Amino acid sequence: MTPRYKSKKVVVTGGSRGIGQAIAMAFAEQGADVVITYNSDFEAAEVVVNEIQKFGSKAKAIKMDLQNNEDRCRLVKESYEFFDGDIDVLVNNAGILTRRPFIELSKEEIIKVLEINLLAPLFLMQEFAKHMVRQQESLLEQSKALKDYCIINITSISKKVITHGLSHYETSKAALSQLTRSVSVDLARYNIRVNDVAPGLIPTDINRNQWQANSSIWQKRVAGIPLHRSGTSKEVAQAVLSVVDNAWMTGTTVTVDGGRTRNWSGTEINENSRQSVIELSKPKL
Ligand SMILES: NC(=O)c1ccc[n+]([C@@H]2O[C@H](COP(=O)([O-])OP(=O)(O)OC[C@H]3O[C@@H](n4cnc5c(N)ncnc54)[C@H](OP(=O)(O)O)[C@@H]3O)[C@@H](O)[C@H]2O)c1
Repeated sequence: MTPRYKSKKVVVTGGSRGIGQAIAMAFAEQGADVVITYNSDFEAAEVVVNEIQKFGSKAKAIKMDLQNNEDRCRLVKESYEFFDGDIDVLVNNAGILTRRPFIELSKEEIIKVLEINLLAPLFLMQEFAKHMVRQQESLLEQSKALKDYCIINITSISKKVITHGLSHYETSKAALSQLTRSVSVDLARYNIRVNDVAPGLIPTDINRNQWQANSSIWQKRVAGIPLHRSGTSKEVAQAVLSVVDNAWMTGTTVTVDGGRTRNWSGTEINENSRQSVIELSKPKL
């Protein structure tokens, strides 16, 4: 059987580990060629590239810092060169999370989180969309059918579930989700679909300090999930692929969270969990 993404060309930012790695592997498993980006962990990125190539797919890792505008431009240029001028799917996955009480947040920390989680995806959407639009216009001129281009932003249920110490992170994800909706309308006439996938609690490096020690905060966070477990990076990757598969889906959020956002009604479990996080996030005045 031919893999369903045999001729697809995909870029996944932050594909070196965690959720991004699972997304990159899920595409490769279905035959897609994949560019991943990484910032610091060259060895992890190399492992992912080797694993992708085992599926018979083309793969490349590009080192970049999403805060750096030159790096962002280089990513666009090198990706399109690698893929001979056409890319089907962009997944803006890379992101960072820092936890600090609002009144202790420095301007630098706020800007860093907004740069990486919001402004970098915005810039990449713009630059990739310019190429996609040119491609569609060329197809129109030749009276050919438009391609199905897809941009997916990884947001978070943090845009809805508010936790102490995450005001800057939550704002970046809420804004990225809103941007997704707005851009989807602009790009719809070119048949470029723009959606976001909002994961709930997934054990990765981003929250390693909580799950590795199986801390009481982690246990309480899990207890607040109706399906009584955290999710896996693979389950988020499956949600991403489901968006790619549905050619009529645009401007929407796919939430994959074990029911967590359906359970935010101030129940006892959630109140306990909230108290633990309050302890963690008390300002040091
Ligand atoms: N895990 C969760 O519970 C959860 C829940 C909701 C949403 N999310 C979102 O899912 C996405 C992936 O998170 P994750 O849990 O997989 O995190 P992770 O394991 O910490 O991976 C983060 C990825 O982003 C890259 N990255 C970090 N800073 C970067 C920078 N300045 N420039 C370029 N790349 C950078 C990292 O590259 P290096 O490896 O080279 O450092 C890595 O590939 C994030 O947007 C996160 O906000 C996660």
